[in-house]
Amino acid sequence: MDSTTLDSFKEKLLEAAWQAEGRAYAPYSHFQVGSAILTDGKIFSGCNVENASYGLTVCAERNAIANATVAGCLRPGSVDAVLVAVKTDNPTFPCGACRQVLYEFCHENTIVFISTRPGSIHSLKKMHDLLPLAFGPKDLSDFNG
Ligand code: THU
Repeated sequence: MDSTTLDSFKEKLLEAAWQAEGRAYAPYSHFQVGSAILTDGKIFSGCNVENASYGLTVCAERNAIANATVAGCLRPGSVDAVLVAVKTDNPTFPCGACRQVLYEFCHENTIVFISTRPGSIHSLKKMHDLLPLAFGPKDLSDFNG
């Protein structure tokens, strides 16, 4: 996807991620996270869902991935952009587990945007820079055909 097309999706990504942030279930950490991904020209969102067991918490990014999967809009390389929304003073990037899960569906130019305030984007990185030397679907292609 070229940068002009990607630009045209930024507002919608922001809106979807911040709406999800508002719905986060985070009674333990109070760290509300919303995420939106652009895949197949469509946007899917997720929020973090915590649990009294703590360890069963699922992050916003992985819930966005699950939502896109259910809609049939996800395959390796289909994600053009990810946006993570958290109200923090300094931008926070996806955790290691989420980087690995996101990587599965990203391509070499997938952009990860961070927003710390509704309506504005504060930081961006390429997904592949967030997870160098990553293990991904191509590493298994010799075995699975
Ligand atoms: N969290 C996310 O949703 N995404 C991340 O990338 C980092 C952490 C959530 C998990 C937990 O509910 C809270 O933030 C504090 O770690």
